[in-house]
Amino acid sequence: MKRKSLPFTFGTKTFPNPIFYAPLAGCSDFPFRQMSAKYHPGLMFCEMVKMDALVRYDQNTLHLLDYQKDMRSIGGQICGNNPKIAGKAAKIIEELGFDVVDLNCGCPVDKVTKDGSGSGMLKDPELIGEVLASMVAAVSIPVTVKIRAGWDEEQINAPLITQIAEKAGAKAITVHGRTRQQAYRGVAKWDHIKTCKQVANEIKVIGNGDLFDAPAAKRMFDETGCDAVLVSRGTMGQPWIVEDILRVLEGLPPIKRTTEDCRQALLEHLQLMTQYYSQRQTILNMRKVGCWYIKKSAQTRSFRGLISKAASLEEIRDLISEFPLSEG
Ligand SMILES: Cc1cc2nc3c(=O)[nH]c(=O)nc-3n(C[C@H](O)[C@H](O)[C@H](O)COP(=O)(O)O)c2cc1C
Repeated sequence: MKRKSLPFTFGTKTFPNPIFYAPLAGCSDFPFRQMSAKYHPGLMFCEMVKMDALVRYDQNTLHLLDYQKDMRSIGGQICGNNPKIAGKAAKIIEELGFDVVDLNCGCPVDKVTKDGSGSGMLKDPELIGEVLASMVAAVSIPVTVKIRAGWDEEQINAPLITQIAEKAGAKAITVHGRTRQQAYRGVAKWDHIKTCKQVANEIKVIGNGDLFDAPAAKRMFDETGCDAVLVSRGTMGQPWIVEDILRVLEGLPPIKRTTEDCRQALLEHLQLMTQYYSQRQTILNMRKVGCWYIKKSAQTRSFRGLISKAASLEEIRDLISEFPLSEG
């Protein structure tokens, strides 16, 4: 990685590398981040939290922000569109010891956008500036923002928002190359990331979208000139992806992970879940997590079916340990 020298700095913070792990609602929970931390991404995010719930010190919301020392660098992401509340929520994130506070302007879910939050904010770039300015005034940690290319193909405004965010004092902007209309469908157009980088002066541009393996991350750096990358769905079942990306950027091949390696990692993730969640919650969550790690084997489909029907932790452990899985 000649061009992207390590470590990587924005605002007052220096990160060990420019490979970041995304906020993933319902996924990037405490056990997920324990698994991720083993491989040292430059920065990782907790799931997004609603700013109005955070300023009420809602216990479930605070719980989503649980972290431990070895999960650094760690970012908290807030969702909502009220500048005053955003400032208070950002302050709470800072007081909780987070390294970065991010504003979510990308969530496409109707119940979030209907009050103008998440990607609903893309329709009001000036408001994004106001909310960010209020956050910047409230904290001394770097404030960042995560956006999509625009609301739809007719309303691409990521470059304008990049300039507004920079003016408001945000230190980095993550650009997801899809529109709100696309949700998670179709391809992420990386050209939008490139355009944002071209209009950025001081603000760092973090590229996001369709990074499922290490060569893709290298291509994103090369094709867009982005300063860092944010890996999202590509972290699911691949907590090690940062390690592979850093190798590929140095001209080395990714480490080959066998189905057996994935089986062991899934057992480890399960163990971490049992330490954090109740037995019932762990069984429920395994319906999702169990599918992440075993993707390439010919028996994946039946494995997933059995995991989602399993009624006890013992059953799940036995299934993972003993189910015959061929190399994909
Ligand atoms: C299950 C799921 C949960 C997500 N939760 C969040 C979130 O809490 N905050 C956020 O900014 N983006 C969230 N995203 C969006 C991702 O961070 C990312 O922008 C998007 O998936 C595009 O990247 P990818 O194509 O590499 O997955 C979520 C995506 C998924 C699939």
